[in-house]
Amino acid sequence: MNPLAHSRRQFLQFTGAAAVVAAGHRLVPAWFNAQAAAPAAQAVPPSLLGDLAFPEVARSHADALTVPEGFRAEVLLRRGDVLNPQGERYGDHNDFLTWLPRDERTAWLWCNHEDAQLELADGSWGATWTRERAAEFLRWQGGSAIRLERDRRGRWRPVLPHAENFRLDGLTTKIAFDGPAAGTLWVHGAREAIGTTSNCGGGLTPWGTVCTAEENFQETWGDPVLGTAPSQAAGFFPRPSEHYGYIVEVDLATRAAVKHTALGRFAHENVAFNTARDGRLVAYMGDDRNGECLYKYVSEERYEPAAGAANRRLLQRGTLYAADTERGRWRPLDPARTPALARAGFDRARICVHTRAAAKLAGATRLARPEDVEVHPETGEVYVALTAWQPGANDPRRPAYFKEAAGAIGALREAGGDAGAEEFDFRIFVPGGPDTGLAWPDNLAFTPERHLLVTTDFSVKPRPEPGGTQETFGNNFLVVVPTAGPAAGKVKRFAVAPRGAEFCSPTLSPDGEELWVNVQHPGGDSTAAEITSRWPDGGTSLPRSALVAIRRET
Ligand code: FEO
Ligand code: CA
Ligand code: CA
Repeated sequence: MNPLAHSRRQFLQFTGAAAVVAAGHRLVPAWFNAQAAAPAAQAVPPSLLGDLAFPEVARSHADALTVPEGFRAEVLLRRGDVLNPQGERYGDHNDFLTWLPRDERTAWLWCNHEDAQLELADGSWGATWTRERAAEFLRWQGGSAIRLERDRRGRWRPVLPHAENFRLDGLTTKIAFDGPAAGTLWVHGAREAIGTTSNCGGGLTPWGTVCTAEENFQETWGDPVLGTAPSQAAGFFPRPSEHYGYIVEVDLATRAAVKHTALGRFAHENVAFNTARDGRLVAYMGDDRNGECLYKYVSEERYEPAAGAANRRLLQRGTLYAADTERGRWRPLDPARTPALARAGFDRARICVHTRAAAKLAGATRLARPEDVEVHPETGEVYVALTAWQPGANDPRRPAYFKEAAGAIGALREAGGDAGAEEFDFRIFVPGGPDTGLAWPDNLAFTPERHLLVTTDFSVKPRPEPGGTQETFGNNFLVVVPTAGPAAGKVKRFAVAPRGAEFCSPTLSPDGEELWVNVQHPGGDSTAAEITSRWPDGGTSLPRSALVAIRRET
């Protein structure tokens, strides 16, 4: 998810643009290079989870954030916390989080806000929709940029309120389009959209800007292709569905944001960067919907580290591919190379907006909800969370390779180890199920030791269905899975989320001593008659999505 998440002792030496560097032909966190170059005596100690020396936590149905004995969790930010003197607030449903270094004392934290549950924010069960309620729903979504400083103990902590903190939201923020579809009829002639919503996962560009991924845009704006009606909020603020579903790049220094149409439009889960052997930038992306595809984008021009933020142009012109995992081929979504696209009248602009249809025409494989994608920092292999095939294992449309009813983690190895290759091998790294201890994987992140941190996302109800995932596994949870060595592929549970919640975006602090993770929608399965969670404040409080830091007790 976040290359900077692994940059530890070297964090303070970085400037934003230098935080990720090219080693060979791969973009890797500077921490890996520094570690490889360091004499053994100066080796950096393992990160919080690096030695796997923690007692595995049991499954749990409790309304609590459960961590192993000897660890403790501290809440750092909650939905509704006031961020700045203007009164802007930390949004709802915090999802992706990433760090960005600024100087020795300060850093940026970025958090996405994916959705809003107004009833859990203000107890307004059954309330009639009004313009103000609709505005509130859109304001809770988007993202938060927050100043971090080191406290007396040397721990990085949010500074609230602070004049530098700011929000992007779904109501007011104006965001330009770029790339082939900008200004075309496919986006209704627009060069600008209002707002960003459904902000799920994300990524950090090599030049030090944040990408936020617009995922289930149809839930707010509807989707004529899917036959999904717009939400009640869109009734008060009607906007075209085609203005959402993009990768949005945000420069925290200037607050400028842009929707990159060249990276396609679908339920973008996140984006992970690498470079091809010839220096072109590569971006891997999942489309979180049952039966949808895995994508990669290869820029026309080469990544130039010295060019800094000017590398943004790489996300304006390039080739989008969709994966045919049955034959191990990237199918170019390019009418000049894929006659089926030309025959169906798909030019580049249309491909950028109606990407799903283009991928099917090009012969891409329908996958089992491809969510997070992450590039192994050493091997360049691309790990993919395949959350689950719904409605079930007997669906005849299920891909031939995919047998796991509880999801799986796949791994894609590019031909010749070149991220720019058009052929690849694909395998299942860890299947989901009671035997492995993995279920419905959603977010992935690498530790410096090349362990995968994996969060689960299955739906939960106030009372688990007999024999269902929730009864088998308890609440959603977070596991550590080594990718090499004798424990490779073995799943060890580190934490369990409160009732109704899922964990999002596990991210190690730069010194490796804390694991930051967002707890999203605790009590999300509540009804007016039954509030299923009181986390994090307890008592009779309404539940709130929140960011927590987990560390060893000292
Ligand atoms: Fe927003 Fe696919 O989780
Ligand atoms: Ca997700
Ligand atoms: Ca999710």
